[in-house]
Amino acid sequence: MIFPSMLQNKRVVLGVTGGIAAYKAAYLVRLFKQAGADVRVVMTRAAERFVCPLTFEALSENPVYNDMWQDNSQGKIAHIALAKEADVLVVAPATANSIAKFANGMADDPLSTLMLAVTAPKLVAPSMNINMYENPATQANLQILAKRGFCVLAPGIGFLACGDEGKGRMPDPEIILDRTAALITEKDLGGKRVLVTAGPTREYMDPVRFISNPSSGKMGFALARACEHRGACVTLVTGPVEMDDPINMRVIRVTTALEMAAAVNEYAANQDMVFKAAAVSDYRPAAATDQKIKDSRQIETLELAANPDILFELGRKKGNTVLVGFAAETQKLEEHSAQKMQKKNLDMIVGNIVGVSDSGFGADFNTVTCFYPDTPPDRLASQSKDSVAHAVIDRALTIYRKKGYE
Ligand code: CTP
Repeated sequence: MIFPSMLQNKRVVLGVTGGIAAYKAAYLVRLFKQAGADVRVVMTRAAERFVCPLTFEALSENPVYNDMWQDNSQGKIAHIALAKEADVLVVAPATANSIAKFANGMADDPLSTLMLAVTAPKLVAPSMNINMYENPATQANLQILAKRGFCVLAPGIGFLACGDEGKGRMPDPEIILDRTAALITEKDLGGKRVLVTAGPTREYMDPVRFISNPSSGKMGFALARACEHRGACVTLVTGPVEMDDPINMRVIRVTTALEMAAAVNEYAANQDMVFKAAAVSDYRPAAATDQKIKDSRQIETLELAANPDILFELGRKKGNTVLVGFAAETQKLEEHSAQKMQKKNLDMIVGNIVGVSDSGFGADFNTVTCFYPDTPPDRLASQSKDSVAHAVIDRALTIYRKKGYE
């Protein structure tokens, strides 16, 4: 899993209230910790009936705040100190009762008291029975929170612990993690349109065999997600990959290079930035058969036809778009990247050497060098694909502003 780098060294205060889904909050703490955040857990009395504080203490490696009257050894008032240090306050699961308290400014337990004192961004992940969720009182309270700037997540749909089925499940911890990162990310791509391509393409010779490459799509997905977190309106065109659709963007799933070319051509107009991270097959079998080719030991060569160079075509009719290509090379990175950048009329090309461990195809980390047409290259330290994505976007945005496209 690729963790959002924006949570690195951030203080996340997690409020856990008394719902069945409280056990899922334990996994959420782990995710926040793995993303590099410092996690402080606040529990209500009702939450303690479901999960014991020790679980959260062990996972967060910090004491749990569950008693308003508890002595704070540093002589500080605990809820005010916690409130001041919070970069974000997340409540998951958020029960109907806790939501009602937040909406009405009550302060009769550690979490509701803290809620009034926190000025950092706040997120609530509702979790309750479907009728309780749909009750006009709960809906009105959620609307109040949304109006006050809270990020209010929609509950998941499915089986509920009460036996009912429908809306009311706590959103998955992975979704809460993603939305928390989005909430604290500066919206410097607000109002911008961005197209990202990701993953490999498959070029079929018969219904069960194809030419492809090991691209996992992780770099492209990380770019799409980072652009969305920064406020862009994102279209992601992806080849076959084993990842769920990222949240809050248009996702178009394709299989072949020809399908990718058609999707890119449909959406490429009026984009502010294009990141072409897909590993497109340059060739396809000249003729694909409808039925499986049987082994008759007679086929010795496979005839190929050239696929369109999607990026080259974009470069040919480039308007006010920052065009970023990717080059995965096994040798002569600088020479090959420079050639591709010039041939495809790019503003930047992100090159990396493949075939080394912990970088490139399939890895969660990448070591890349950014090349530009008229300034020296920029070698980035090895880092997670999410932080590579943000670094690449930073550079694309600098080019965008320098060119006066704003
Ligand atoms: N690309 C594309 N369409 C293709 C081939 C590549 O849009 N048919 C894009 C890729 O998405 C990438 C860039 O071009 O951003 C470079 O891809 P790469 O395969 O490394 O370049 P090629 O020009 O195909 O060169 P080669 O395969 O000879 O290294």
